[in-house]
Amino acid sequence: MAAVGADRAPNGATSAVLAAIPLGGLEVPDPLALDSGGRVTSVRQWERQRRPELLNAFQENVYGTTLPAPTGTTYRDAGGNGSAKKVTITVTGPQGSASFTLRIFTPSSGKPKGTFLLIDHRGSVGDDPSSGGYAPASKITGAGYALAALNAEEVAPDDAGSYRDGVINAFYPAGQDLPADACRTISAWAWGASRAMDYLQTADAASTGIDPSKVAVIGHSRGGKAALWAGAQDPRFPVVISNNSGSTGAKLARRDSAGESISAINSQFPHWFPETYKRFDGNADALPVDQNELLALIAPGRVVVASAADDGNADPQGEFLSYLGAAPVYELYGLGNTGLSSTNWPPATGKSFRGPGMSYHLRSGGHGLEDADWDIYLGSNLFTR
Ligand code: GCU
Repeated sequence: MAAVGADRAPNGATSAVLAAIPLGGLEVPDPLALDSGGRVTSVRQWERQRRPELLNAFQENVYGTTLPAPTGTTYRDAGGNGSAKKVTITVTGPQGSASFTLRIFTPSSGKPKGTFLLIDHRGSVGDDPSSGGYAPASKITGAGYALAALNAEEVAPDDAGSYRDGVINAFYPAGQDLPADACRTISAWAWGASRAMDYLQTADAASTGIDPSKVAVIGHSRGGKAALWAGAQDPRFPVVISNNSGSTGAKLARRDSAGESISAINSQFPHWFPETYKRFDGNADALPVDQNELLALIAPGRVVVASAADDGNADPQGEFLSYLGAAPVYELYGLGNTGLSSTNWPPATGKSFRGPGMSYHLRSGGHGLEDADWDIYLGSNLFTR
């Protein structure tokens, strides 16, 4: 299906990519096309050459330069009772320290079958487990899984005036402007998810019965954008779930006129992405990458794309096409079956489509992380092929 050499976008503008795959009437970058020309032919070449090229391109053009590893990290037991545990993670960088909370809910008996690490951008998960909706701790533990909720507001406030006040200012001098290509909020949240994973790999976390090799990073909407970027960079997550992540999440950037555009997201949320991403306002075809390649970076981990039929702002069709456009890399791993019964839009709503490395569903209704989404996540053995 590769149309190698297609160097024109459909609108006639010069495309930034030299090799593209046709998808939904668009020419979308082929994730396997090497910057130097030619196409990846082996897993080894993908992992050694193409994967680093793409990660660099996403840092340079979309999410900004990822924060380095902290120079120090401490974990403090912040209380909690019964099957709930609260940990304060403190990270130190050259300019200072920042702390954020991870709340863990485990089943009352038995080891969890897996853990959902939620990038909780609403900061809404409290000490008492909720039974339904966005972060239904008791529903998750009742199904035999654990929930680990990362308070993303503490990692980086979701506010244009104060977003640096969490982890970013531990690495950059507070009195100076950030470099144009420095990470902003979404990347900081993704980085925070990796720090939560660091904790889940400790002996202290092991005492909860959590198996760190079975952790799904999950986020909804803006949290879903961060979950994808976390999963693309950090191969410790065997499952990566983007729920209604939309623009600069699962949605193809080249469908700029469908749903939320790059210029709209950059002007409404100027603190989410670096200045360098703003070069693509109104000019998505100039991006050297597209979001199908972000999904592809998760391979061979399971990528989960969940959309809602009436969520026009997130462009569910653009999320679906992006999912299809990630399949060539899964194919390289022998995991190319998307689970879909057809590549035609729209697929049936309310149905879980599951391949050995990719999962998709389209919920009826509007934007949200709802019980119906959790029913699918909890009921579809995400941690097995
Ligand atoms: C806004 C924004 C989206 C984002 C959403 C959310 O609608 O435009 O990009 O995904 O908020 O986080 O709920």
